[in-house]
Amino acid sequence: MTQDEMKEAVAQAALQYVVKGSIVGVGTGSTANKFIDALATIKENIKGTVASSEVTAERLKGHGIPVFELNDALTQVNKLSVYIDGADEFDTGKNLTKGGGGALTREKIVAAGSEKFVCIVDESKQVEFLGAFPLPIEVIPMAREVVMAVAKNIGGNAQVREGFTTDNGNIIIDVTGLTIKDARQLEDDLNEVPGVVTNGIFSHQGADIVLMATPEGVVTL
Ligand code: A5P
Repeated sequence: MTQDEMKEAVAQAALQYVVKGSIVGVGTGSTANKFIDALATIKENIKGTVASSEVTAERLKGHGIPVFELNDALTQVNKLSVYIDGADEFDTGKNLTKGGGGALTREKIVAAGSEKFVCIVDESKQVEFLGAFPLPIEVIPMAREVVMAVAKNIGGNAQVREGFTTDNGNIIIDVTGLTIKDARQLEDDLNEVPGVVTNGIFSHQGADIVLMATPEGVVTL
């Protein structure tokens, strides 16, 4: 089975978590794209979606799936029924690194507005400790050097993602060289730095369920 086929399999498996008649939160990335394509086959069963990025919104609309603003959706319902998205890494505590596609802030917001986060990954994303994948931090541009200095202080190498601006008009700083043993603490520490919008550790908004594709089939964790 190729990685692409594994992504398709896990996207298909995620359909079982789609609640009939509800508004579904939809993530960003190549695995989330497979989920969007799968969701299109049952679009009559849902009321609509909330997208975690402009690119996801476009793909959903391309399939004729209604896309609501999060604030509008949350005036109709208490929470979205489920948020379904990929991840760059996940550890044994279902903490995630996200933001390889740069949509981390909106992803975290939509996850926070959802009852449940179902994370769809292939087995290449499983790690003991987060950190092998560069940790993205969304930063207000004038805080760039402040945040770069903090990243160095915690033992990482920081680099501005070249030529990239988030949907919120900010920059991304990617931090390599970390072995993250306390994901929740680092998530909190980085988010306290002035100018940080959010960082790509999803511990507070970690996955409730991880669906992991393997060559032998999809495993539920
Ligand atoms: C987007 O900003 C990310 O958080 C993605 O969810 C993550 O990078 C996973 O993407 P893939 O499914 O393409 O690996």
